[in-house]
Amino acid sequence: MVNNDDEAIAEARYARLTFNAPLSLSHADTLLTHLDLTPATSVVDLGCGWGELLLRAAASVPSDSAEVTATFTGVDTDVTVLARARREVASQGLSPGKVTFVEQPAAAWTWTGTGTTTQPSRAICIGSSHAFGNTSSMLTHLTNLLSHPPEEDGHSPTITRALIGEMFWEEAAHHPNNPRAKTARAQFEDPDSNEENQIPSLAGLVEMCRAAGWTVLHLSVADQREWDEFESAHRAGLREWALLNGGRSPTRAEEVRREQDERERGYLEGYRGLLGFAYLVLGR
Ligand SMILES: C[S@@+](CC[C@H](N)C(=O)[O-])C[C@H]1O[C@@H](n2cnc3c(N)ncnc32)[C@H](O)[C@@H]1O
Repeated sequence: MVNNDDEAIAEARYARLTFNAPLSLSHADTLLTHLDLTPATSVVDLGCGWGELLLRAAASVPSDSAEVTATFTGVDTDVTVLARARREVASQGLSPGKVTFVEQPAAAWTWTGTGTTTQPSRAICIGSSHAFGNTSSMLTHLTNLLSHPPEEDGHSPTITRALIGEMFWEEAAHHPNNPRAKTARAQFEDPDSNEENQIPSLAGLVEMCRAAGWTVLHLSVADQREWDEFESAHRAGLREWALLNGGRSPTRAEEVRREQDERERGYLEGYRGLLGFAYLVLGR
């Protein structure tokens, strides 16, 4: 049975986050620029969360012209984050025909648009490759999903683009003299899992993209400030809930506080500075 605290905690969990990834607003704008969006390039965001990046993509494309055939579709399995996404669509006055959020496993989503809209030639998958099993499967899935964008004069070659966000290990995470390296890796990896399910190095991640037939058009990584902002914001919503509700619901508030303190220790004593997050805009 879901009680009021459970609902409030579910709402508070992500309340202070802009993206559910270590990403600043200026970095997000740079990534969208490299996606090269036009009024004809539809975008699908697989594992979109509350769709902040997709909403920004939609806002960057004019919507008042009859030439606009682009749609923006977010896919996720978490109903709480999708509800936040749909509230944003309404509050920003975006047309529900232009921006849609679908509750569905990402791997099962297929394009069902009509003749007045274009099939996606752009995909976003940030922090969500687990929805496809692993990074390689996600990359192959994107290859099969995206169509080439409509050619303006019927002849010019076009590029499909995918923006992915993936974890990688910094070199220091494999250094035998680094006291946190073993702890950090144990937090994210099952040592018995096969190699394709392990977190790669940055060079290894780029090789995976190439092996799946993609060309890297732009590569950037989250910096330490983006990581610290992300980690802090990940805890701030729940910590604020615990501070505000300690008098009314002391046991639950204490539980939430301890859980967040434990996660913070995991970051500071484990993966801070060792786990990287890369953003790659890929083309084919
Ligand atoms: C780390 S979050 C990233 C969210 C978003 N891409 C962002 O950067 O803000 C991962 C997301 O994947 C979603 N997810 C997990 N399994 C999924 C699946 N099988 N299909 C679709 N979404 C899934 C989660 O609900 C969550 O919103």
